[in-house]
Amino acid sequence: MIFGKTLLLTQQQETQTETRKRKQAASKRKQRHRNRRQLHESSSEDEYTEDGVVIARQRRAHVTSLSSPASESSSSSSFSGDAEFSDVSSASSACSDEELEEGSDVELLAGASKIRAIRFGKYEIETWYTAPYPEEYNRRSLLYICEFCLKYMPSEYVNWRHQIKCPMRHPPGDEIYRAGKVSVFEVDGRKNPMYCQNLCLLAKLFLGSKTLYYDVEPFLFYILTETDEHGCHFVGYFSKEKQNTSSYNVSCILTLPIHQRKGYGNFLISFSYLLTRTEGKTGTPEKPLSDLGLLSYRNYWKYTLCYELQDLFIRPGQADEEIKKVSIMELSGNTGMTPDDIVCGLEALNAVVRDPETGTYAIRVDRALIELQIAHWEAKGYINLEPDKLIWTSMV
Ligand code: ACO
Ligand code: ZN
Repeated sequence: MIFGKTLLLTQQQETQTETRKRKQAASKRKQRHRNRRQLHESSSEDEYTEDGVVIARQRRAHVTSLSSPASESSSSSSFSGDAEFSDVSSASSACSDEELEEGSDVELLAGASKIRAIRFGKYEIETWYTAPYPEEYNRRSLLYICEFCLKYMPSEYVNWRHQIKCPMRHPPGDEIYRAGKVSVFEVDGRKNPMYCQNLCLLAKLFLGSKTLYYDVEPFLFYILTETDEHGCHFVGYFSKEKQNTSSYNVSCILTLPIHQRKGYGNFLISFSYLLTRTEGKTGTPEKPLSDLGLLSYRNYWKYTLCYELQDLFIRPGQADEEIKKVSIMELSGNTGMTPDDIVCGLEALNAVVRDPETGTYAIRVDRALIELQIAHWEAKGYINLEPDKLIWTSMV
């Protein structure tokens, strides 16, 4: 009995403390919301800090102007994403939400997603698109997502409590690549469905047209992380169908906006082709590509061919006029890229020429251009994939 009373008393004390904390959190949140609104109105800065939180302001508008060539090409693509989200509200894997009513700091519009940003680790990241989070989470302007297990939470308080008890410091699954602080984990959608569903939802916040399978079981997910003393921090990922009857080697690819334009997307693409070559296949990303996806792939195809052609044709002491032969199929076999993508890469290097008399095509390599392109790329100092650091065998 005495034990029972003590327990009751402790629980009452805890409840009072929690109520106090919730009120403090709610008032802080309101203040933050006010601050955010002011910042929206007054600032055009991309990033700044506020109470130790890095606010990443990388709006979708920054890239729309770059989309015209990409749009042209994506619209000519013959494939379409035919998958749909299933209803996720019943399968919610979010933390318990004890203060949904108390914490609502925006007026609600039925059906519309209110999520404007996510808190992810120390970052606050503005979202680009909506995602089918359960309705009660979509009503929030700021969604909290654990950067390690990817659970989503409605409030700072719930997030705070989750951070105390979350045991994860890296993605689930097998670490199949490590070079310095960069790692890649292979996560099986069948073995870790919650993690993968949460990942798909997170990705959807930055993917416009593409829809995702909510049924994650048929997919493998490759998570790119950067390690520090706190753990392996999520940078980006790509997913891939396990049993692929087509030649797709990437289903969805994402670099979080806070890490974009630093070469990680290129690294992920490179990694996907390394897996494809290890399987003894060729592959291509699933279509339609987003604008950013197309820009990134075109860039990858072009530079991959630069290196390939450099290996084949540009050797010290080789005479300029020396003619060597290489076929598209040979380039495809060496790189893991499909013949169509090889042609796309060659075109970007002005390397496809047509004989006006015979109507036949040939590859013509401009050595100076290729060397210039490689020097330009290497000057960026992006991380390189080290193929010998991969420890992996295909599960299929
Ligand atoms: N504007 C112009 N060029 C770009 C841009 C951009 N916004 N983003 C990438 N590129 C091109 C550039 O040539 C770039 O090299 P540079 O930065 O040195 O000029 C090159 O691609 C490589 O860029 P990375 O830094 O390696 O790519 P990043 O890490 O930014 O990731 C990605 C690219 C994954 C497409 C990212 O933009 C993203 O996550 N976008 C949102 C989700 C998306 O659209 N995913 C693709 C969907 S299609 C599919 O899933 C198959
Ligand atoms: Zn967690």
